[in-house]
This record gives sequence, C-alpha cells and structure tokens, in this order.
Amino acid sequence: MQPDASRTALVFGASGTLGRAFCEALAQRSDFGLLIGTGRNPDAIPDPCEPVVLDVTDADGMAASCQQIRGLTDRLDLVIYCIGLLHDGAHDIQPEKRLEQVDAAAMARQFAVNATAPLLLARDLATLLPRREPCTWAHLSARVGSIGDNHLGGWYSYRASKAAQNMITRTLAIELGRRHRGLACVALHPGTVASPLSAPFRSPDAQGVLSPQASVAHLMKVIDGLDAGSSGRFFAWDGSDIPW
Ligand SMILES: NC(=O)c1ccc[n+]([C@@H]2O[C@H](COP(=O)([O-])OP(=O)(O)OC[C@H]3O[C@@H](n4cnc5c(N)ncnc54)[C@H](OP(=O)(O)O)[C@@H]3O)[C@@H](O)[C@H]2O)c1
Repeated sequence: MQPDASRTALVFGASGTLGRAFCEALAQRSDFGLLIGTGRNPDAIPDPCEPVVLDVTDADGMAASCQQIRGLTDRLDLVIYCIGLLHDGAHDIQPEKRLEQVDAAAMARQFAVNATAPLLLARDLATLLPRREPCTWAHLSARVGSIGDNHLGGWYSYRASKAAQNMITRTLAIELGRRHRGLACVALHPGTVASPLSAPFRSPDAQGVLSPQASVAHLMKVIDGLDAGSSGRFFAWDGSDIPW
C-alpha cells in the first residue's frame, strides 16, 4: 500500500482482542491518515482511533453509528469486521455440543452479530469505498464456518452463522465488485487465537495457539497481498485458501 494521508481504515470491534491488535498494527503504519474504531464501550477503544460507539444488536444505534462514520470520512480504504459472538453468559449462549442444546434465541443472536450485522453495515457504508483504487472489505470469519471443512460437527449456531457470513462475503464481493473495481471483499480465518472468545474451548497447553499480535501480523500480510482478483475468497492467517 502507498502512504496516503487521505486513506481511512475502519475496524469494527476495536475493543476486542483481534480488533485492538489490528488497531495497534495499523497505528504503526503511515499508509492511513485516519483510523476509526468501533466498540460498545468508548473507553475501551484504543488510541489513536476516532472512537465510534456501536452495538450491532441495536438497529437505531447502528444507523446513528454509520452516520457518525460518514461524518468522519468520505472514503473507506480498509474495513475489517472483527466483531463476533461464540458464547455470552449474559444471554445464556454457549456453543452446542448436542442437538438438544439448540436454542432459537441464542441462535438468532449469533446470526444477528456474526452475519446480519456485517451485511447491514455494508449496505450503509459501502458507497464510501473508492470506485477505482484498491480497497479491502474483510470479515473475520472462522474455519469452523467452512461447510467443506466440517468433520467434527457441533457448534451449530456459530458454524451456521459464520457460514452465512461467508455467503454474504461472497455475494457482496460480486455485487460491490461491479461498482468498486479495485475491491477485495474477503473472509479471513485468524487461526486459534488467545482471546476471551476462544478461552473456554482451548486447553492452556494447546499447541498452535497464536497471540493476537502474531495472528494480526500474518493477516496484515494477507491483506497487503490482496487485489481485486482475490475478492470473494476465504483465506486463513497463513494465506492458504479455505474451502467454503
Ligand atoms: N479467537 C479465536 O481463536 C478466533 C478463531 C476464529 C475466528 N475468530 C473470530 O475473530 C473475531 C474476533 O474474535 P476475538 O478473538 O477478538 O474475540 P473477542 O476478544 O471476544 O472480541 C469480540 C468482539 O466482538 C464484539 N461484540 C460482541 N457482541 C457485540 C455486539 N452486540 N455489538 C458490538 N460488538 C460486539 C466485542 O465487543 P466488546 O469489546 O464491546 O465486548 C469484541 O470487540 C470474531 O469474529 C471471531 O469469531 C476468532
């Protein structure tokens, strides 16, 4: 990417583990003049982000947040959706081990956060993407959202919501690619990363767990290597393709 102070990066979920690590990595670079970060708690959004409060389960608040983002910038060169939901004690959400544990409300909330929200945000903000210059709209997906790679079962709601997000990514890549010729719209799997989201489901001595900084360093390399020809694809942190 070329240094350009007019370029803007937007990180949804800047207060989360991977979102924060993306903000820290982007803050070290000179190729974005403006970094916007969203979070439910403004105090948890890291410097030097322009903070925008966003809870994606609040439709009115979401519209106001998008308006605020439009007031901050007239272009988005890099967008990374780092918001995600796997478990939430406050809403009695745990990944299902068995069919009997499936619950409609818990499933609906995971779809709202993991799949519907990024589509609504694209609906409201994608016109800020440049028409011709290279730009990226990336969703942090998960390998377990791959249908082709599902050999273990379980986790119905999370898997299905990430698979839905993946379909949304692919469909957005097709429609937005017609208007934004330099766009790479992609799904990214960060690896298994030490974070509150993964903590209950990995043993402390598990092999192959990445730090958020290591995952983001790999993912930034993947992002830097994207072009319009990469759009509509699903990449792992090491740059390998994941089957849909
Ligand atoms: N960690 C892993 O091993 C792993 C593996 C595969 C995929 N991923 C994906 O990577 C992404 C980031 O995960 P992470 O490990 O960084 O998890 P994390 O630290 O738990 O961060 C999750 C983020 O989602 C936000 N969020 C949840 N519900 C929200 C809502 N209703 N409105 C707005 N924001 C909401 C949280 O906001 P608050 O800061 O306000 O709580 C937080 O910023 C997720 O999409 C996850 O599925 C992670």
